[in-house]
Amino acid sequence: MSIQNVMVIGAGQMGSGIAQVCAMAGYKVYLNDLKEEFVQKGFASINKNLQRQVEKEKMTAEQKQEILSRLTASTDLQDAAQTDLVIEAAVENMKIKSDIFAKLDEITPEQTILATNTSSLPITEIAAATKRPEKVIGMHFMNPVPVMKLVEIIRGLATSDEVYQAIEDMTKTLKKVPVEVNDFPGFVSNRILMPMINEAIYTLYEGVAEKEAIDEVMKLGMNHPMGPLTLADFIGLDTCLYIMETLHEGFGDDKYRPCPLLRKYVKAGWLGRKTGRGFYSYE
Ligand code: CAA
Repeated sequence: MSIQNVMVIGAGQMGSGIAQVCAMAGYKVYLNDLKEEFVQKGFASINKNLQRQVEKEKMTAEQKQEILSRLTASTDLQDAAQTDLVIEAAVENMKIKSDIFAKLDEITPEQTILATNTSSLPITEIAAATKRPEKVIGMHFMNPVPVMKLVEIIRGLATSDEVYQAIEDMTKTLKKVPVEVNDFPGFVSNRILMPMINEAIYTLYEGVAEKEAIDEVMKLGMNHPMGPLTLADFIGLDTCLYIMETLHEGFGDDKYRPCPLLRKYVKAGWLGRKTGRGFYSYE
C-alpha cells in the first residue's frame, strides 16, 4: 500500500495542521473544504506557521516554498479520485461524516484508505457508511498538530491489519508517534482528558476556586503545559461539550455528565479562543 497523494477534508485548525505536516513530509496534498474562502484561511494559517519556522531559521525560504508547492486547494470532493489516502477532519457530526464517507467510497479507487480525525465518534459506524470498512481507520491528531507528537490510531471493528500497518508507517513518516487503540467512546485520549476538563469546570461552577487558581494548581502542581480551563478554551468549548455528550451517551454513566456551566457557555456562544471569549477573554 503505497501512499503518495493525500486529501485532507476540512481546512479548519485541525485539517490545515494535518495538511501542513503531510506536505512537510513530502506528500502531495489536496486541502479540501466546502468554500474557497475556508481553504484560503487554512492556507494562510499554514503559511504563517511555516514563515515562523523560516524566521527562527528552522527552515529556509526555499524549503517553505517547496512545501507550499505540494499543497493544492480543492472545493471538489471528486479530487479524491487522485488520492491514496483521505483524512477527514470535518465537523464532529455523524450524519455529515457518514455522507462524506459514502461519497468518498464512490469517488476513490478501491485501494484508497479512508481515515477520520474524529475525536470521539465511532469509527465502526463511520465505516458502515462505506462498502470498504476494512479500509476505514481513525487517525486522531492532537492540537496544535504541527507541535504535538501523538497520533491515536483507532481500529474500527473491521479495519484490516494491512491498513493498520500502512497508517502506522505513514504516521511515522510525519515524525509523529502512532499509538494503537480500539474503538470505544472517546478512545483513550478524550476518555481521560475530557472528564478532567469537565471536573475543572465543575470545580469552578461549585465555587471551589477562581478560574486562574484552578489552572495554576494543575499547571504548577501537575506540570501540565496549560491549565484545564485554558486548554478547554484552546480546544473549543463546543468540542468539549460534544465529546462529554458522546461519553455520557456511549457509556450511559452519569460520571460523564457535562457540567451545566459548560452547556451555558456554549449556549452563550462563548466557545473559547475561536470566538474571542470562553473562560477567558481573548479580545
Ligand atoms: N501552531 C503551530 N505551532 C505552534 C502553535 C500553533 N498553534 N502554538 C505553539 N506552536 C509552536 C511554537 O511556534 C513553538 O515552536 P518552536 O519550538 O519551533 O519554537 C512551540 O510550539 C512552543 O510554543 P511556545 O513556546 O509559544 O508556547 P508553549 O511552550 O506554551 O507551547 C503548546 C504551546 C505546545 C500549545 C503548549 O501549551 C501545550 O502543549 N499545550 C497543551 C496542548 C494539548 O494538550 N493539546 C491536546 C489538546 S486535546 C486534542 O487536541 C484532542 C481532542 O480531540 C480534543
